[in-house]
Amino acid sequence: MLAYLPTAVAAEDNNGAIAVPLRKLLTPDFDKLAFDAYKTKFMYLACHVTSEDDDERKHWPDCCFEMGYENYYSDAYEDRHWRSVAAHPIVPLRNLALHPATCALHYGPAVFEGTKAFLSAKNRVVLFRPEMNAKRLQKSAGRVLVPKVPLDMFLEAVAKAALANREFIPPFHAANWAWETRNPMCLYVRPLLFGHGPQLGVRPAKDHLFLVYTSPVRAYYSTSGMRVLITRSFHRAAPGGTGNTKAASNYVSGLLPTQLARRGYDWVNDKPVRVSEEPFNDVLYLDAVHNKYIEEFSGANFLAVTTEGTLVSPKSDSILPGVTRDSVIMLAKEMGIKVEQRRLSVQEVMNPKDIAEVFCTGNAAVITPIVTIYHNGETRTFEVDKMKTVRKLWDLLVGIQLQIREDHLGWVQEIG
Ligand code: COI
Repeated sequence: MLAYLPTAVAAEDNNGAIAVPLRKLLTPDFDKLAFDAYKTKFMYLACHVTSEDDDERKHWPDCCFEMGYENYYSDAYEDRHWRSVAAHPIVPLRNLALHPATCALHYGPAVFEGTKAFLSAKNRVVLFRPEMNAKRLQKSAGRVLVPKVPLDMFLEAVAKAALANREFIPPFHAANWAWETRNPMCLYVRPLLFGHGPQLGVRPAKDHLFLVYTSPVRAYYSTSGMRVLITRSFHRAAPGGTGNTKAASNYVSGLLPTQLARRGYDWVNDKPVRVSEEPFNDVLYLDAVHNKYIEEFSGANFLAVTTEGTLVSPKSDSILPGVTRDSVIMLAKEMGIKVEQRRLSVQEVMNPKDIAEVFCTGNAAVITPIVTIYHNGETRTFEVDKMKTVRKLWDLLVGIQLQIREDHLGWVQEIG
């Protein structure tokens, strides 16, 4: 007899969806902000329905052989098939009703982006290089066979979602954007694209949703610098996998190692082993073939500065091409810093004669200095006060993003 659950009558909402228990989102308080999903007012929502008419896709894989797998959905096809779910694409922030066979929940066709809206020093609502996110989402979509969101539609969605939630953008305080405090509060903007159509066979979904959700956030990592564990037992991505796209599946493999590291545990010989009294903030992954070369964190890129002053960005086919990483590399070159994109071994990073400064970059991470690295029984520490190059890069990047400095590269887009 099934005696686990008491009999209950499922409450249905007015769409016939069962109301499931869900943690209530908190209304944000800018003075006590964490990096979390808060309750804001609106989201952008559009759908791509192909169930009744998928003639174009019958040409696949021929067009794929000619033009690359990302042409599973052609540009013309996308433009015609995206439509609003409601009368207007900006809708009140609400839960979604999904079928139990939702393809993304089972087989993972889900990709997303991360960008931010800031209230700048000039009191304007600004975005930073959003077209880079738009293009990267298209690249990610092509890899997991979800329809690409046209670039203009993406840019409009991000701007509209941010402006509809303008009251949740934390005000500009110069002190938050100073190297000494590094407390970059802003409105996080999360575009998400996934196959929500019911699908039992392992195939691409037929129906897709694109939404843009926002939440005010503070710094993602510890503002005093990051403590990092390099694992030898888990990998983020493998050659030929999806590591160079922003696919949701890239993040799940990091959940276990990160939760262990946050409690001071590494994973050795198939067992958790306590290696530190203090928690680590995140896990840094090595390449899956040699277990030797630095790749990245699950949510940020890794960069290092050699004792000679060269900026090194690890090179690998399974690393996400970060917008912040790209910006930092361009700014470093402008500053006359030599930049190398090459393989970077863990031995090099752990050797004080080779590497002087280490940090991570990301939309959420901005630029975060790394103060401790643990790898295989060895710990190396770094002093934030000695990170002259990282500091210069932070000042320049954040200065441009917040309109404190001149935007000589045309990266900042004023939207309100
Ligand atoms: C971002 O930096 O926006 C990301 O999507 C990474 C995530 C860990 C928050």
